[in-house]
Amino acid sequence: MNHRVALNFSDGNSVFFEAKHNELLLDAAFRNGVALPVDCREGVCSTCKGLCESGKYEQDYIDEDALSEEEIENRYILSCQTRVQSPASFYYDIDSGLYSNLKLTRFEARVSNIENVSDSSVNLHLTLSDQSVKLDYLAGQYAKIHIPDTDQKRSYSFATSSNNNGELQFLIRVLPQGIMSDYVKNRCQVGDTLTLDAPLGSFYLREVQHRLIMVAGGTGLSAFLSMLDELITATRFNPELKNVPVELFYCVSREADLCELSRLDAYKTLLPKFSYQLIISNPSRTFTGHKGRITDVLNAQDLQSSTFDIYVCGPPPMIEAVKTWLTEEGVNNGTLYFEKFVAST
Ligand code: FES
Repeated sequence: MNHRVALNFSDGNSVFFEAKHNELLLDAAFRNGVALPVDCREGVCSTCKGLCESGKYEQDYIDEDALSEEEIENRYILSCQTRVQSPASFYYDIDSGLYSNLKLTRFEARVSNIENVSDSSVNLHLTLSDQSVKLDYLAGQYAKIHIPDTDQKRSYSFATSSNNNGELQFLIRVLPQGIMSDYVKNRCQVGDTLTLDAPLGSFYLREVQHRLIMVAGGTGLSAFLSMLDELITATRFNPELKNVPVELFYCVSREADLCELSRLDAYKTLLPKFSYQLIISNPSRTFTGHKGRITDVLNAQDLQSSTFDIYVCGPPPMIEAVKTWLTEEGVNNGTLYFEKFVAST
């Protein structure tokens, strides 16, 4: 038995196809040529999150970090775990262009620089090996980097926009142990060739219509560097965007974890209404800035003063804390977009 399925997207476009009874929604979409965002395929990353608007379905495994109980009750689904049981309609809060224009590509890039940018992170600079490769991605999306001489891959957000002449950057957290950390610390050399898969993820800068709030946890900053580069490029075609307030909250554990501050300062001259604040959860005695967590610094009254879009890229507890805070403070005049970001080892 087949069921008619509709997928609706945030730009108003829809696609329709037939799914077999009990078929995984993601498989049915791919079988019909619709390449929905996907990453782990295991119900863990929530890249494939959607909302069931009508119809019956069952879900296989849902990791607690991928969907909250409340989201499950409200019929949010993971496409990779959702089995279609009747004619159904699903909504995805992404532009339909994300699936139709951006195809997952495997490509090679050469290491051009390994820049130590803090005690705990490096900025890995890569150059596309084949400049004829058309690598297109949205600011905020990520790539999987294959770690040389292993069968492992790790996910990292682009730290540049795709308009960068084949030059790529990734902020990589270097941990005491871990397969990628070991490669970056001990083996990575300028001239190494790496294999990457991209673009991935459904966290990206939407059309800018309101004040922007960005919350970065650790190397989650990478996605915002890409978004800010993209925004600066966009101001060349639409100077009005320079008047949009953009506030970045950059949260780390220690001062020594901070990086790319000179780049953030440079954005202030290119985007007159850009500002950033540093928030340190375990600061030294001499630190005089914001101490604590993002929810200690966000100001409900200020946020309620105008419509906003808030983008959060950080560890799952940070995302949940921001969501809970917005609900408890009654701040409902903004739209939240988030990427649960776990530092890869
Ligand atoms: Fe990761 Fe579905 S692709 S949860």
